[in-house]
Amino acid sequence: MPDFDPGYGREPYATLVRSYPGPETYPTADFRTEWGPVFHRGRLDGTARVLVIGQDPATHEAVTRRILVGTAGRRFQGFLAKLGITTSYVMVNTYLYSVYGQSGGNAHAHDPAIAAYRHAWLDALVGANRIEAVIALGTLADTAFHAWQAASPAGAAYTGAYRHVLHPTYPDSAAASSGADPAQATAKLLADWNAALDALHPAIAHPDQPVPLTHYGSGLAPADLVTIPEADLPAGLPAWMRSDETWASRQGATPADKRATLLVRIPTDLRPF
Ligand code: URA
Repeated sequence: MPDFDPGYGREPYATLVRSYPGPETYPTADFRTEWGPVFHRGRLDGTARVLVIGQDPATHEAVTRRILVGTAGRRFQGFLAKLGITTSYVMVNTYLYSVYGQSGGNAHAHDPAIAAYRHAWLDALVGANRIEAVIALGTLADTAFHAWQAASPAGAAYTGAYRHVLHPTYPDSAAASSGADPAQATAKLLADWNAALDALHPAIAHPDQPVPLTHYGSGLAPADLVTIPEADLPAGLPAWMRSDETWASRQGATPADKRATLLVRIPTDLRPF
């Protein structure tokens, strides 16, 4: 039987999703507010043991309305599997909206109103779950975690494990921004993730499926990418939206058109026709 994410009907999430900040808090010059907020992925039923803080939603997330479902999500789903965590996780992003432009992300790292809403989510998630580890993906997520610890009593009281790791798409962004060799950048990512596995594996007292600690090699093998579980996505989404292929991209001849246009295309090998 197909499974699905039941969404935000329960408190405190119902109130959180009713009261999300808009362009008054997330300036439209720096965030793609026109695609709406994307709140989370994973368990909201009190069973999460690992809390992941990502950065901001991208193209696939704008369609599925859940975070970390594209390349970054599948890479990190593989990391969680190496901790024996296959269902007991919950993920939120540093930003509710996709960052637009080079500097937007850093410029708003300390905005009080952005942080206040994020803290409300982190408080709710840590309050409702027995979180054993928090993992921040990238420096903005690391900043967000420390801001929460400094500002919120629940943050200050959190005593579980914490690890800041390189963002799953670090190799892609390093290659694009500074011409880094993708293979070397991937090796750097995986060395960082191996060190994180060493630290976190013993800290997870209640894995879903206990697994021996295994490291990544120097490159990402196909088995290192794990498909997003059906139970993480809204009811009725077709299976190809969870596939390991790219199916959404921004298109347009002008910056405005590109910002306004998402092309969604079923991968050819996944078409039932
Ligand atoms: N998609 C997300 O939702 N978050 C990230 O950090 C990257 C991609």
